[in-house]
Amino acid sequence: PYVIEFRQALVAWFESEKRDLPWRHTTDPYKIWVSEVMLQQTRVDTVIPYYNRFMESFPTLEVLADAPQEYLLKHWEGLGYYSRARNLQAGVREVIETYGGVVPNNRHDISKLKGVGPYTAGAILSIAYNQPEHAVDGNVMRVLSRVLHIHEDIALPKTKKIFEEAVEQLIDPQHASSFNQGLMELGALICTPTSPKCLLCPVRDYCIAFHEGEPEKLPVKSKK
Ligand code: ADE
Repeated sequence: PYVIEFRQALVAWFESEKRDLPWRHTTDPYKIWVSEVMLQQTRVDTVIPYYNRFMESFPTLEVLADAPQEYLLKHWEGLGYYSRARNLQAGVREVIETYGGVVPNNRHDISKLKGVGPYTAGAILSIAYNQPEHAVDGNVMRVLSRVLHIHEDIALPKTKKIFEEAVEQLIDPQHASSFNQGLMELGALICTPTSPKCLLCPVRDYCIAFHEGEPEKLPVKSKK
């Protein structure tokens, strides 16, 4: 009942309160892929105009695959981490050559693509394909460290697995997209690093750190 109610509260909140972001008007796995790569090291407000320009110039995998690298990089100027753009184009070319232009819908194959790590794989699988796959980044670790009262050091690489396994237990198998995006949105809007807005939180009834009284003390993070 706890897990079922937690899922329901999170998914219902996301569906009613989610921000209207351009990549939330599509389930095209290519577009979700682009958005997640841009969002990896860059804030949402910065990404929005880049994403919109990118989709005007490169509306499909095929157009991006055929684009000259200098033209591609022009669309990335200001985002930084240019290897992200080069890896994205390499990954898109692999999808065309190896998978007939269809982004794989399973973790085994999608993880082989250039630039697609465990987070990006899970984000594409859940958001584009609604598959119950974990997509754990720093924000999701913060939210779940509080809800579940996990005191493992999130600076240690091995800690991520603990959170991925937690998501596997919690994720709503019918609403994987809204569940994962709900965790991300909660981290962005409510369960912020300092001064979390617990009184507005849709899942505070299920949150151990809220009941213990010091949610801002989590997550534990050793190195900076
Ligand atoms: N950060 C990472 N992925 C995101 C998404 N899909 N929406 C908003 N913020 C995000």
